[in-house]
Amino acid sequence: MMSSVHLNRLPQHVAIIMDGNGRWAKRRGLPRLAGHKQGATNAQRVVEIFTEYGISYLTLYAFSTENWNRPQAEVNGLLQLLEKKLDEGVKLAQEKGIKIRHLGKLDGLSPEIQHRIKQALELTQNNTGMTISLAFNYGGRDEIVEVMRRLILSGIPAQKIDESIVSQYLYTAGIPDPDLIIRTGGESRLSNFLTWQAAYAEIYFTPVLWPDFDRREIDKALIFYRQRQRRFGSVAPE
Ligand code: IPE
Ligand code: IPE
Ligand code: MG
Repeated sequence: MMSSVHLNRLPQHVAIIMDGNGRWAKRRGLPRLAGHKQGATNAQRVVEIFTEYGISYLTLYAFSTENWNRPQAEVNGLLQLLEKKLDEGVKLAQEKGIKIRHLGKLDGLSPEIQHRIKQALELTQNNTGMTISLAFNYGGRDEIVEVMRRLILSGIPAQKIDESIVSQYLYTAGIPDPDLIIRTGGESRLSNFLTWQAAYAEIYFTPVLWPDFDRREIDKALIFYRQRQRRFGSVAPE
């Protein structure tokens, strides 16, 4: 059931660093991949809850440009999981009117995965409900380097470049900056997530491991957000 807690001062855009799958598995004596599977199942649950709450933009950090440094077997497992979950995700998206976006580099992913990502974007592009951005093979610094390249290629004169133009060249073009960033798994860092866009986000760190991040934990994060006073460099109203 939706509680009244959610009806006021909701963030427009929530972005989540879904961390702690490996530790979740380890605590149960399971292989890390079992944690990733459980994490992917939880991502679907969390998407449904945020849809129910009427959040407009949800961004999920699923694989960073640094995650290639993991053992090959784990990387392969994560890629396979993405392929499988993309299919299920498109089905859920069509049911709920969700538009899927991808943040990150397609280069470096297999042609098969690239095809599935492009298909997911195409099939859901006219949906008018929540926008879900899947950050996969995403790095905040990589994104900024890409912006620089694209700006130079576009030939825009240097003196015309401003913050709004940079925003239009990011992977997140057209998506407002995140209001709330949630990181599960106990670490207090951003790990190369939304480096430009996080400038004024409220950041909520919780020790809860991603597979255990349920409705109650979502509610705690939303209450934390509601209690923040956002000043954007100005002063509090009298
Ligand atoms: C997050 O869980 C998922 C990815 C980074 C792909 P981890 O795999 O980082 O889990 P921990 O941090 O090792 O527990
Ligand atoms: C961040 O988690 C990336 C994702 C959740 C996809 P990591 O587990 O890779 O981050 P670090 O290495 O602890 O900073
Ligand atoms: Mg981790």
